[in-house]
Amino acid sequence: MCGIVGYIGKKEALPILIKGLRRLEYRGYDSAGVAVLDADNVTVKRVRAVGKIDTLAEKLKAETMAGTVGIAHTRWATHGGVTEDNAHPHTDCSGAVTVVHNGIIENYRELKKRLSTKHVFKSETDTEVIAHLIEAHYKGDLRLAVEMALTHVQGTYGLVVMHRDSPRKIVAARLGSPLVIGVGDKEYYVASDTSPMLAYTQQVIFLDDGEIAELTDSEVKIVNHHDQKIDKHTEQIDWDEAAAQTNGFAHFMLKEIFDQPTVIKDALRGRLQVEEGTAHLGGLNMTEEQMHKVRRVILIACGTASYAAMVGKYAFERLAGIPTEIDVASEFRYRDPIIDPHTLVFGVSQSGETADTLAALREAKRKGAYVRGIVNVVGSTMARETDGGTYIHAGPELAVASTKAYTNLIAVLIMYALQFGRTNRVTVATGQRVVNAFLEISEKMTRALKTSAAVRQIAEKYRGYKNFLFLGRGINYPVALEGSLKMKEISYIHSEAYPGGEMKHGPIALLSPEFPVVAILTKNQLYDKMRSNIEEIRARKAPLILIATEGDEDARALADDVIFVPQTMELLEPIINTIPLQLFAYHMAVLLGKDVDRPRNLAKSVTVE
Ligand code: M6R
Repeated sequence: MCGIVGYIGKKEALPILIKGLRRLEYRGYDSAGVAVLDADNVTVKRVRAVGKIDTLAEKLKAETMAGTVGIAHTRWATHGGVTEDNAHPHTDCSGAVTVVHNGIIENYRELKKRLSTKHVFKSETDTEVIAHLIEAHYKGDLRLAVEMALTHVQGTYGLVVMHRDSPRKIVAARLGSPLVIGVGDKEYYVASDTSPMLAYTQQVIFLDDGEIAELTDSEVKIVNHHDQKIDKHTEQIDWDEAAAQTNGFAHFMLKEIFDQPTVIKDALRGRLQVEEGTAHLGGLNMTEEQMHKVRRVILIACGTASYAAMVGKYAFERLAGIPTEIDVASEFRYRDPIIDPHTLVFGVSQSGETADTLAALREAKRKGAYVRGIVNVVGSTMARETDGGTYIHAGPELAVASTKAYTNLIAVLIMYALQFGRTNRVTVATGQRVVNAFLEISEKMTRALKTSAAVRQIAEKYRGYKNFLFLGRGINYPVALEGSLKMKEISYIHSEAYPGGEMKHGPIALLSPEFPVVAILTKNQLYDKMRSNIEEIRARKAPLILIATEGDEDARALADDVIFVPQTMELLEPIINTIPLQLFAYHMAVLLGKDVDRPRNLAKSVTVE
């Protein structure tokens, strides 16, 4: 969703801000803007544009924007249409206060009504009220004015503010929408995530909710809402600029699909214990006694992460024998979930910032569950709010469509299931089988990626179809769901996913020669059952694409097209079987000329409800 970047230091701000905005493009946006404060001439210049950063950059060619302090924003419209007037930065009446904001000001209508008697509003946004509130409270100290203004505000914000009359200062405030400060040499960056600052520094300070930071040339001072100083640690992050590049691939999504064999090793490293046939994830923060008492596991997630969680459910039930539920976060938070102190709740999330998942975890915590996070983004809200958990180490995932985070989330969930399983019913021998399968998985993923050229040819053949049905059974049902979601997200082709056995209860009515089916038929305990479902499809003359196990010549005879993947232990199949489906969606989107990395209407991290 919206992205923020700010800079104060010795360098020209504009190039840093524009480069930073480009790094934030992956989050999804529909307009962008920048403001630079020229301390010598005491002026603030602002330029905004609807559409891509390129349009903004084009507009900037006609401007001179000198200055070493500035803020910038990519907006994903919520309040007010996609117009230049609604794009950030927003200003107060005189243009002295300049504000960029992520989040939602819930009481903005009341505030706007109240302020309108003395202030002139120029946009339809909720954000603009903040600029006018700061104007109303400014008496020479910008930080204090922001603090005072925020006492009137209900809602969520990641907020960055400049004032023409405090020219060597930026103030940032956070409540419910992340902000990170990058610490350089007599210079500071502030952004909604670390990506805009990776080219300059890996030293960061993560702001927590309720904190306000004042950045000057020489220091960063952080206070709470009562203006009490807070000492924060500077942390070193291990992601670097190189990890956030396409590295010669045509798109981030393709690069991230191909990253998978490497980053899965990062997820497994140091966590598998071959001799004991187990995994050890230190972040669980539970004693064996506490682990024994867990009676129920709930996995809370959205979108792709929820499909990874579905695989986690199979693993927890099969290995640990613990009843496990998946809850889509937006549903969980508004039910009245039954939770007791023997319930272990995992939040499963790439970004660690998904608003619904965070709210659901807070609810679970309130009700007394153990709450842990399985997260990719280091320092994210989920990582910091949970009482333990694990990073999946997938590295920066910048394409909106999640790929490498999905497979690494699955790997970590299965390792957790194994760790629990070994404390109760899993033998060393069974545990070792899982560990050994993990040790071979990276090489098998590389083999699965070799299908890319063949998958592209299949995509060519099917590019004219308007609908697809994805089918899987057992542990491959989440794979079908994920394949279908990828297809919808980036190629905008309608697709549905069903468990194979559910076909004759309705969806089979859809099938015809115009409605292709993509089915997962790999060699596992449900092979024969799935094969029967496939016969039913053939009888309806629907074109059939199969994902099948290498060497299964029967599959070739069954289908119009087959993509062969290496065999692995059934529990780990989703890690392999999803790869050709990611590639299928990718090639289809490219062939159809879609914006693969930034599909319409979608944002990378969904930080509003
Ligand atoms: O950051 P999260 O994993 O919590 O995000 C959850 C979903 O928003 C995300 O997986 C979404 O479905 C992706 N666009 C899928 O590709």
